Amino acid sequence: MQQVTMSPSICLAILLLALVSPSPASASITNNNGVAVAAPRVPVAFQFLQGHNDARREVGVAPLEWNWTLGQDAKRYAAQLVVRCKLEPPKYIPPIYARNRYWGSGKQDGAAATGSWVYERRWYDHGANACAPGKECGSYKLVVRNTTRELGCACRTCRGSNDTVAVCSYSPGGNFADPPY
Ligand SMILES: *[C@@H]1O[C@H](CO)[C@@H](O)[C@H](O)[C@H]1NC(C)=O
Ligand SMILES: *[C@@H]1O[C@H](CO)[C@@H](O)[C@H](O)[C@H]1NC(C)=O
Ligand SMILES: *[C@@H]1O[C@H](CO)[C@@H](O)[C@H](O)[C@H]1NC(C)=O
Repeated sequence: MQQVTMSPSICLAILLLALVSPSPASASITNNNGVAVAAPRVPVAFQFLQGHNDARREVGVAPLEWNWTLGQDAKRYAAQLVVRCKLEPPKYIPPIYARNRYWGSGKQDGAAATGSWVYERRWYDHGANACAPGKECGSYKLVVRNTTRELGCACRTCRGSNDTVAVCSYSPGGNFADPPY
């Protein structure tokens, strides 16, 4: 789902969070002694950046970089979404940055969230700058928007369930009526 209103958030805090809670990107592997050890975690920024920049490269758009302030915004936004575990726009969050939002069943990570947005590519008609009838493709358009330079994202587990919400905040904005590339 996409929110085109401009809307702001902390990568460091997310990383801290990842240290104290099981990360969806972590997996158990077995070492040479047959003892299960934690696999190295994929950093949160990388989980999100890779899918974004792969999709952007495919259409000849420059890669995005991580921005701490935008990460703060996304974290703040996600902290609201986890309460009801729905993608309804939270109150008290100023619409400063463009954002993509994600809900996933069970434990998911930034790569899964990004993948869900990039999945909408199949419904985007670049020639017409339109989505297929009845389909959403606004999240994909935000992923590949050529005026965007930076993003910050957060992935959180809902309260009361093991489902996942994720948010990316993007900057700068640009004219969202224009084709993204
Ligand atoms: C991060 O984004 C914010 C908000 O767009 C901006 O004010 C700030 O300069 C950016 N920081 C860096 C290091 O680019
Ligand atoms: C979340 O997952 C854990 C581990 O699989 C499970 O023990 C727990 O009951 C789950 N919680 C909810 C609310 O589904
Ligand atoms: C972004 O794409 C639009 C539409 O193709 C194009 O007109 C514009 O020059 C591009 N801007 C940048 C910064 O690449």
